[in-house]
This record gives sequence, structure tokens and C-alpha cells, in this order.
Amino acid sequence: MTEPNHVNRSSLVDGEPGQDSMEPGPASTGLTIGALRLPGRFVLAPLAGVSDWPFRSLALANGAALAYTEMISSEGLVRGGKATLKMLERAPTENLFAPQLFGSHAGRMADAAQMLESMGAALVDLNMGCPVKKVCRTGAGAALMREPRRLEAIVRAVVDRVSIPVQVKIRAGWDSTSINATEIASRVEDAGASAIAVHGRTKAQGYGGKASWDLIAEVKAALRRMTVIGNGDVLSARDALRKLQGYGVDGVMIGRGALGNPWIFREIDALARGRDAAPVVAHGEWREIIHRHLDGLIAYRGDERRAVRMLRKHLVWYTRGMRGAPSSRSEIASIRTKSDVGRWLDQHFPPSTGPARPLDGAGPRR
Ligand SMILES: Cc1cc2nc3c(=O)[nH]c(=O)nc-3n(C[C@H](O)[C@H](O)[C@H](O)COP(=O)(O)O)c2cc1C
Repeated sequence: MTEPNHVNRSSLVDGEPGQDSMEPGPASTGLTIGALRLPGRFVLAPLAGVSDWPFRSLALANGAALAYTEMISSEGLVRGGKATLKMLERAPTENLFAPQLFGSHAGRMADAAQMLESMGAALVDLNMGCPVKKVCRTGAGAALMREPRRLEAIVRAVVDRVSIPVQVKIRAGWDSTSINATEIASRVEDAGASAIAVHGRTKAQGYGGKASWDLIAEVKAALRRMTVIGNGDVLSARDALRKLQGYGVDGVMIGRGALGNPWIFREIDALARGRDAAPVVAHGEWREIIHRHLDGLIAYRGDERRAVRMLRKHLVWYTRGMRGAPSSRSEIASIRTKSDVGRWLDQHFPPSTGPARPLDGAGPRR
């Protein structure tokens, strides 16, 4: 059984800067990105290999204000690449479609953004923070932070071409000797973007070390009008509210904290309303969510075995920190079919086992 985890609202800002001088956005009202009004302030990060429409749908159904696609190659999109177009599929219920583009050529980024607008995107996010070598080698992702003028030209080209809001996602800088998020954010604002998401790590840090929320607060303070979404190391509902309240940002983006935990957004809402953060999902619903996730993946991939292969990593995340997880883990690799998933769940996490969730903040989810 999980223990009740009573959270005292007054403890939410412990160890974080006070709110008085920062005028944080209240958790109860939504983010504004250009003309777009979102239903909340907590959004699902773009996650390559993870944030396909089945996962986005789960996050949105559980209260995420927005859920970005994984990064989409502007070159692939302009060429009409099949794999690229596949990644742009979405559920009929996904009204606020938020694709993320990467690329290094202003004209083709603008062409690709225009295509996304014609496909019904509510906004377009430009990836200018990806640390992956293959991406940086082409001058895209975080490599653009070393070329502020080129970065600005790309943002301007996209803003000039589309009428939907444009958002940019950056890191703190390239490395610790070249932290330039504030300068880049000002350029992005000058170029006409509506929002910026800042992951408070440098490219050189990858996913190691800690995200600097002080830097994110500095970016927010330096801007005149642009919406700022902070990102990095938010692993629990409590973290999310602390960041929103403590650093003056307009919104908070959650990546790894939503892996195997897409209801984190519901937990945030519960906590903001003064209720316990954990567990908001009872065991039966937890099982249902896994089944729903698999059904979504089968519909997305059109092939049961491929869908189950994709689900396996999620099963590791779904069961992290749970009783029964260690003994179940070794079997995940041999799960092949939908009935295998059902049998595995029944064996290790039967309906009768009661609350399944670990305690709130049960450790980093990667
Ligand atoms: C598996 C994985 C895939 C990611 N894919 C993308 C991506 O496609 N585009 C992007 O801008 N960032 C991507 N990121 C970075 C996240 O969006 C986010 O900035 C980072 O994980 C820090 O936030 P977190 O501490 O909440 O996870 C990815 C991160 C992970 C762990």
C-alpha cells in the first residue's frame, strides 16, 4: 500500500525564492501564447520516441495544457517524407496541435512551418536546443545558440510566414563558458516570437547536472512581453508548483517527470487545489491507462507487435518504484502481444493489489 502523502500548501515554496517580487502566474489560470489561450500552465515537453499521439492524448486527457510532438525535421517535412508525416498524425480529440520543428535553413523552416499551419497546428515550436550530435552537426538544434544571428533570422522567417504563434525552445547556452539564453531570448522576442521555453542546462551538460532555474528567472525578467516556459528537472507535482511560484515563469514544461506518469498534470491540479498530490490514480485506472496506451499505439502503428515493442519502455516507466517492479522487469523484453501485456499485468500487478502508485516524488523518472 502506498502511504498517504499529505502536502502542506505552505511548504510548497520551501527552499525556493519568495513570490513577492516575482509575480508568478497563478496555477489556476492558463498560459497565453500569442492569440492562443491555453487551459493551464503546465505542458508536456517534446520527447523524441515518446510523445507520439497516443502518449500526448494521455497527457492531455490528464490535464496537460499542451503536448508538443517530438521534433520534426523541416527538411523531411518539405520533402514529404513518409516517416516525418507519420509523426504528425494526431488524435481527433487533439484540438491544440503543437508540432515542433528542427532545421537550420530559414527558408525551409518557414516552408515547413507553413505546411504545419495548413495541417491545423495551433502553434509551431522551433527546436533550438537539441544536443544530439546528428542534429547539431547540421547546424540545427543547440548549434544555433552559437549563431545568434542565424537563429534570429530563422525565427523571423517563420514568424513572417505563418499567422499562428511561434515558440522557440532553447537551452541555457552551448557550454558553461558561453551561457547566452538571455541574449538569445531577447533576439527571439525581437524577431516576433510569442513564447520561449528555456531548458536550464547547457548543451554540454546533456541531461547531467542540474537545470538552472535562476537563469530561467533571469530570462523572464529580461523580456518585455514574451511568454516564458521554464523547463528542467520537474519530477513531481510539488516541484512543478514550486517552480511556477518561485521563479516568475508563465508556465512549466515537464519531460521526464511525465514518463510513466502522464497523470502528473492531474496531480498538479489536485495539489494546486490543496488536495493530496498522490496518488490521484487508483490501481484499476492505472491498469486501464496502460491498456489505453497500448490500444493507441496499435492504432498508431497499425501493427500489434510493433506497438507492443514501443510500449515496453513505457512499461518500465509505468512500474518504476512500484512493488513488484523488479520481478516483472526481466520479463518485459519477452512481451510480444497484447495478450502478453494483459497476462504480465495480471501476474505482477493484479487488480486486487490495491493502490499501485509509488509515493509522490519517488525519484527521477528517465
Ligand atoms: C527521451 C527524450 C527525448 C527528447 N526529445 C526532445 C525533442 O524531440 N525536442 C526537444 O526540444 N527536446 C527533447 N528532449 C528534451 C526535453 O524536451 C526536455 O527539455 C528535457 O528532458 C528537460 O526537461 P525534464 O527535466 O522535464 O525532462 C527530450 C528529452 C528526452 C529525455
